[in-house]
Amino acid sequence: MRVIDLEDLDAIKEAVVVLNELKVVSANRSGERYGFRTGKSLISIFSCKEMDRIVGSIQEKKDFSLETEAYFFELQSKRFVSFHFLPRKSLLVVNDLTEEKKLNEAKLDFVMAVSHELFTPLSASKANLFLLKDLEKDPEKFEILDKIDRSLNRMETIIRQLKLLTMIQLGLYELKMERVPVREVLERSLDDLYEKIVSKKIRVKLSVNVETVETDRFVFYTILKNLLSNAVKYSYPESEVEVSISEEKLAVKDQGIGIKEEEKERIFERFYRGSEAPKMAPGSGLGLSIVKHLCDMMGYKLEFKSRWLVGSEFTVWFR
Ligand SMILES: Nc1ncnc2c1ncn2[C@@H]1O[C@H](COP(=O)(O)OP(=O)(O)O)[C@@H](O)[C@H]1O
Ligand SMILES: [Mg+2]
Repeated sequence: MRVIDLEDLDAIKEAVVVLNELKVVSANRSGERYGFRTGKSLISIFSCKEMDRIVGSIQEKKDFSLETEAYFFELQSKRFVSFHFLPRKSLLVVNDLTEEKKLNEAKLDFVMAVSHELFTPLSASKANLFLLKDLEKDPEKFEILDKIDRSLNRMETIIRQLKLLTMIQLGLYELKMERVPVREVLERSLDDLYEKIVSKKIRVKLSVNVETVETDRFVFYTILKNLLSNAVKYSYPESEVEVSISEEKLAVKDQGIGIKEEEKERIFERFYRGSEAPKMAPGSGLGLSIVKHLCDMMGYKLEFKSRWLVGSEFTVWFR
């Protein structure tokens, strides 16, 4: 085995440690700073919740990667770090993500604070508008107030979606895995879209051959709701939307306007809307971006097929 000269690695930020079983053989300078000194055992260098797993994997020479908060005795402080173990070279790589995590939390705080500040005047406007609409007898004026109402509702949706997207992107959404009843979630999503479905006379065909799916309820609902909402929004009146859910996948197929070849690579971008989309329905361009991030977070594979003016099918593979 070629011996790695750790002096070459003195300049890098990560702590790189060569181990013999649990004992430190050598470490680069960054490693020494965290207390990885020749001859010392890992358990006298740091401690964390996953200590048993780390020790077990190293002894069994199994690779692992994990992120956790660890207390380093030499630094006398807790750091948020990632551990990677490469058994072939008996290397442990430790990356300190504490600053990055703090920055992410600050970004999230900022988005949350801005959202909160926007919600307050928005709610006040909505309340006043409600009063005005109640008093307005002139149908023309009422129509204008109704338009304002719809715009305010859209603003509210955009703020909510931005908040959600930020949380997912920063990895701060906490998953709660459970057996989720598929029919129940499906019915709720259909309920949300009921008016649109009825007014466009869309036929919804369901093929559900599974009772429950092991997933996070809110994530599952958000993915389904966004795909379904797009299918309905971008469908022609009186066409068919098909939803199929099985143990392996969730698919939503429509006979709508489809996606132009040159727009296909952009539809998952934040705020991106197809050139013809605004003619069909209002939107924020955030839906698919949220779906994509949620799928990445869950380890789901997201695929789509679409032909311009013919229709689209979005499929989420659960594994
Ligand atoms: N089922 C679909 N049929 C046709 N176009 C779609 C469909 N789903 C998404 N798109 C295209 O992808 C774009 C981005 O979708 P999305 O992020 O959900 O934003 P929004 O629906 O708010 O426009 C849409 O504006 C539209 O051009
Ligand atoms: Mg959408």
